[in-house]
Amino acid sequence: MPHPDLTGRVVIVTGAGSGIGRAAAVAFARAGANVLGVGRRRTALQETAAEHPNVATFPADLRADGAGGTIVRAATERWDRVDVVVNNAGVTAAMPLADTDAARVSDLFALNVVAPSLLATAALPYLRTTHGVIVNVSSTYGHRPMPGAAHYAASKAALEQLTRSWAVELAADGVRVNAVAPGPTESEALTAAGLSEGVVESIKAEEARRIPLGRRGEPDEVASWIVRLADPTATWLTGQVLTVDGGLELVG
Ligand SMILES: NC(=O)c1ccc[n+]([C@@H]2O[C@H](COP(=O)([O-])OP(=O)(O)OC[C@H]3O[C@@H](n4cnc5c(N)ncnc54)[C@H](OP(=O)(O)O)[C@@H]3O)[C@@H](O)[C@H]2O)c1
Repeated sequence: MPHPDLTGRVVIVTGAGSGIGRAAAVAFARAGANVLGVGRRRTALQETAAEHPNVATFPADLRADGAGGTIVRAATERWDRVDVVVNNAGVTAAMPLADTDAARVSDLFALNVVAPSLLATAALPYLRTTHGVIVNVSSTYGHRPMPGAAHYAASKAALEQLTRSWAVELAADGVRVNAVAPGPTESEALTAAGLSEGVVESIKAEEARRIPLGRRGEPDEVASWIVRLADPTATWLTGQVLTVDGGLELVG
């Protein structure tokens, strides 16, 4: 499918060093946008930037104090505007209720809920000027139960409610807010959650078995919808959560 024309637009993508974020950063760049790719690992970001000259890198921990402001400044000092914020960085965590502890819940929410909020806050003055767009990356499990990882699901449910609430709050400013909710997609997410290779492989096989389309997704298959939600010609679409999961939510 052809990409929208985003020539001259400025896009911030978090978690751009791997998986869905890398695919989204490259897809925005191919659509003509200038992209600031954010993540902690400099080398991972550089590998993303090597895929397209329109991708610039900004290593940062999104949970650090003032990270939102620092990231937005990096984009505006370079390009003087922000059109799109993609809140993609996120972590998953296996955490049955019996093993739940305060530090792990706080860590999860710091990245999956607080960081997207503060980045959006910092970008808001620019988004108001450009009539820009926020795209949040949720999950099928933002609106389906996830036994054994309830706080991950709850963090994504929070992101979906932020999406709907901000959409109404910012509509008068011409700022649109939507979310993509991917299903199981090839990325570093399962290994980043600290699972062993054997466990990762068995989770992947089980997921592929449950997905009606019969396989896990590829990052590009999610990224292309992120770019479409950010398309400036999608002028009447706001407050929506688009599930891209091979049909999993219908049966999962
Ligand atoms: N893959 C799936 O099956 C799936 C399904 C549903 C939803 N999602 C969601 O999709 C989004 C992207 O995940 P993914 O699957 O592409 O996983 P991924 O490959 O693990 O990507 C996550 C990215 O976030 C970055 N990140 C993590 N902690 C960070 C921090 N504190 N500060 C800055 N960046 C940080 C990581 O880079 P650094 O480690 O270098 O910081 C990494 O590049 C997440 O929100 C995830 O919850 C994924």
